[in-house]
Amino acid sequence: MISEAVIDRIADDIVSQGYCVYRDALPLELMRALAHEAQQLEMTPARIGRGGDQAVAPDRRSDSIHWIDDSLPAGKQWLAGCDDLRLSLNRSLAAGLFSFESHYARYAEGAFYERHVDAFRGDANRKLSLVAYLNEEWVDQDEGQLVLYPEGADPIAVNPAMGTLVVFLSEELAHEVKPARRERLSIAGWFRLNQSHSGRADPPS
Ligand code: OGA
Ligand code: MN
Repeated sequence: MISEAVIDRIADDIVSQGYCVYRDALPLELMRALAHEAQQLEMTPARIGRGGDQAVAPDRRSDSIHWIDDSLPAGKQWLAGCDDLRLSLNRSLAAGLFSFESHYARYAEGAFYERHVDAFRGDANRKLSLVAYLNEEWVDQDEGQLVLYPEGADPIAVNPAMGTLVVFLSEELAHEVKPARRERLSIAGWFRLNQSHSGRADPPS
């Protein structure tokens, strides 16, 4: 699913700056199949918090999600591709990534996700975050950018365009999803260090 050249750049960028933004990183055919699959799925409002402390909080996060498993034909290919990526990164970074979990997300027009980090420091769970986009012909005026906030550097705005892949250190990089002017589909995923799940929602920032 992901070429060696892309994997090499992800590894280099993670080491040098803790994140990687790569346009046209992913095969169009699979991305279209994922987009089609996501459009058919029933999604449920995403939650924030950990463990037993999770809640829907539409003032902080207003997307809806569907967890991906092998029962979804395109999703199954996605999970397999991400597992190959996991093994490659383990080889090139000695990263010790153990498992992967991923969901589709639908941001209806106007939906957003406030600035946050994906993992609490020291929880030793989510190590590497990955976001892929499923939107054809996204233009700046559609807004809905993912904004990354690297420490000590200017924010980086990423259009959620089909084929773009973003990878970053889950505990380090704050980010947010700006409200979009049209429906916005993405896939978010996390590589974990071990199996100690702390609950399937993002922590509040
Ligand atoms: C997330 C997230 C970003 C996006 O789900 O934690 O930050 O662009 N998603 O969909
Ligand atoms: Mn996030």
